[in-house]
Amino acid sequence: MTKISSFSEYQTEYNRSVNDPEGFWAEQADKFTWQKKWNKVLDWNFEDPKMKWFEGGQLNITENCLDRHLAERGDQVAFYWEPNDPSEKNIQLTYKQLHAEVCKFGNVLKNNGAKKGDRICIYMPMVPELAIAVLACARIGAVHSVVFGGFSASALSGRIQDCDCNIVVTSDGAFRGAKAIPMKETVDEALEICPSVKKVIVLERTKTSVQMISGRDVKWKDEMTNAATDCPAEVMDSEDMLFILYTSGSTGKPKGVVHTCGGYMVYTHYSFENVFQYNGGVYWCTADIGWITGHSYIVYAPLLAGATSVIFEGVPTYPDAGRFWQVIDKYKVSTFYTAPTAIRALEAAGLDFVKPYKLDSLKVLGSVGEPINEEAWNWYNENIGKKNCPIVDTWWQTETGGILISPLAGLTKTKPGYATLPLPGIQPILVDDKGNELKGNGVEGNLCIKFPWPSIIRTTFGDHERCKQNYFATYPGLYFTGDGCKRDEDGYYRITGRVDDVMNVSGHRIGTAEVESAINTHIDIVESAVVAYPHDIKGQGIYAYVICTNKNKDHDSLRREILAEVTKVIGPIAKPDKIQIVSGLPKTRSGKIMRRILRKVAEGEMNNLGDISTLLDPAVVEEIKNGAL
Ligand code: WT7
Repeated sequence: MTKISSFSEYQTEYNRSVNDPEGFWAEQADKFTWQKKWNKVLDWNFEDPKMKWFEGGQLNITENCLDRHLAERGDQVAFYWEPNDPSEKNIQLTYKQLHAEVCKFGNVLKNNGAKKGDRICIYMPMVPELAIAVLACARIGAVHSVVFGGFSASALSGRIQDCDCNIVVTSDGAFRGAKAIPMKETVDEALEICPSVKKVIVLERTKTSVQMISGRDVKWKDEMTNAATDCPAEVMDSEDMLFILYTSGSTGKPKGVVHTCGGYMVYTHYSFENVFQYNGGVYWCTADIGWITGHSYIVYAPLLAGATSVIFEGVPTYPDAGRFWQVIDKYKVSTFYTAPTAIRALEAAGLDFVKPYKLDSLKVLGSVGEPINEEAWNWYNENIGKKNCPIVDTWWQTETGGILISPLAGLTKTKPGYATLPLPGIQPILVDDKGNELKGNGVEGNLCIKFPWPSIIRTTFGDHERCKQNYFATYPGLYFTGDGCKRDEDGYYRITGRVDDVMNVSGHRIGTAEVESAINTHIDIVESAVVAYPHDIKGQGIYAYVICTNKNKDHDSLRREILAEVTKVIGPIAKPDKIQIVSGLPKTRSGKIMRRILRKVAEGEMNNLGDISTLLDPAVVEEIKNGAL
């Protein structure tokens, strides 16, 4: 497939994609294996909203990820798997082997009752079997819903119930750094309230003993031994669902973002090849497959591109803060894609952890998930890239399926902190709070996209109205990202962070409302308000203001219990960093919490609270300021 190979070609392609989007994307789509060609490239409106790409086309994404490569690169490594513990033996899977495993596990799913269209929940550690399970679902036309392994039983059951999964694929446990974390036990607890689940397939990883419920639970190994190797790829319509991935919004429970087969395939591949300028070599994305980055840029896009990638089970700081760099040298990684929070943590650990490693295989560095501050960008550039590797700061979201704004490695001139320019096919627009377009350069506002791209969200599972309200109603006719953004004098985009009540903590997306409702389950708490504040390593930390009704309650134990409660309802990633116990919250006369004030206090900007004259009880502000943590 031809890639863009110069900045001027980028400009030409960009213009072509705007002037003739259908022609442009048809040409990209033509490069894949389709069982039947589409009738219509695009059918859309942002009012319903309706987004359909390559309608009438039939395909199976795994044929494009696997079968298509067998003749040419069957013996090439698709995945190197690097275990948590560096002394454990690593594993490699060639395209031929991966294809065989996926086919077998596809049959395992079928043998356990899976049919096309069924939803299958995958709750696993970062082992090759996770990627195999994902691809096996796609192979047989089942819809995967991967749930990040750090979520609690309660969060897991909510996600299983929302889309009525009938099978859960899990593992006995997970290794993360020095710890072994139970997973099957969490699944058992979650399933107490999930009657839709009929089968649980359990992989052995940590060898911790698990309870197997007869008739429901089966072992991965046993099932695989009995499974046939031939598993024809299910014929899927372009707009058939490929997967659901839950993500947090500013209100309510996490929503199931739906992606479909054809457009997602075309866009993830296109963005991968062009952003990273992937040209062979070993690629490593350090994300977890439980997030969209792992779906798009560990599983699907690299395989579509016939790449060799690393899947890493562990954490950046185990056994020490040199682990990433050691793995890069070990596999001679040429493209490395990670998150600013990891970069900042490893920077803080000091250069002694970097020095032992050569890092001379690196050609391209990527960043994803949150704004990258200039200092981290420079550290990454100097100490990891040795000023020799372009950095692609890739902006996108679960809902966008793939990277929308990013430099093309080596082609786009970079600027620290800037995601720079939109990919071909992406038409960003900045608007003020009333929805007026901010034209020209040197402006800052709310980031929207005015035209669909092939991997745009199709709906939120089971609730299309919610999709409309969340993304298409704020500024009618536009897709609203929830992000603030600046377009500088050069026309470069810089994402400034969320403008809604969504936090970004260590690259994890968490809604303030979710954390509040978890805190409120504590018996002594009547009300709480959660905001984000700047955090040196995590990007944002979580600051909770809570009202406790029990005057005799010891504050330290209250804090401990709140952390336990949040861990139980959501998971450890959502634990507040700071908990301030207050007697009231700043509210307007109509009862609305003035979060702006709480944010200022959490940021330490006490003297700059703005207008507080509309407050019901201004005295509460003084108390909050005095007690600030
Ligand atoms: C939110 C989406 C994109 C995959 C991982 C996160 C923030 C993401 C960047 C970036 C500044 C970024 C945005 C976005 N974000 N990438 N390069 N620069 N901010 O996916 O969990 O859906 O979160 O992450 O705020 O809206 P997600």
